[in-house]
Amino acid sequence: MFDLKAPSATKDKPSLYRELAEQVAAVFTGERNAIANAANLASLIWYSLPDLNWAGFYFFDGKELVLGPFQGKVACVRIALNRGVCGTAAAARRSVIVEDVHAFPGHIACDAASNSEIVIPLVRDGDLLGVLDLDSPKPARFDSTDQAGLEKLAQLWIGLSD
Ligand code: SME
Repeated sequence: MFDLKAPSATKDKPSLYRELAEQVAAVFTGERNAIANAANLASLIWYSLPDLNWAGFYFFDGKELVLGPFQGKVACVRIALNRGVCGTAAAARRSVIVEDVHAFPGHIACDAASNSEIVIPLVRDGDLLGVLDLDSPKPARFDSTDQAGLEKLAQLWIGLSD
């Protein structure tokens, strides 16, 4: 169906994210289902970015965050706003990078292998839709280049899904 090659992990980060954004746009072409596109985005991230142990979505149901499509180990299903890294990013509506999750007050440990985390809020026209969450076993795995690249991918999902 799609001729997808995982972007090479040896590429520099900006090129890796540029390639990934092109692939995401191609995969979303002709499909606006939010769950399907979130599932494919989680897979593309999982197979393209190195050093991850979890990548996926939580959707805001109007009250709290509820687990959506993801790759990785079984995760907690519901997260209250303001709880953990995901709830903090959702409530503040800004991306949060945590270099050491063990030092983050209220971090929710779904997988003991996680050492660092990045959470990108998904906001459309002022409405909170959910968050995109990535975990890594590597301390301080995520930086501002990851934030910019992932925010771009999140924007593609927001703009190209209903
Ligand atoms: N660690 C997250 C919870 C979600 S899992 O990592 C998949 C948090 O503190 O919000």
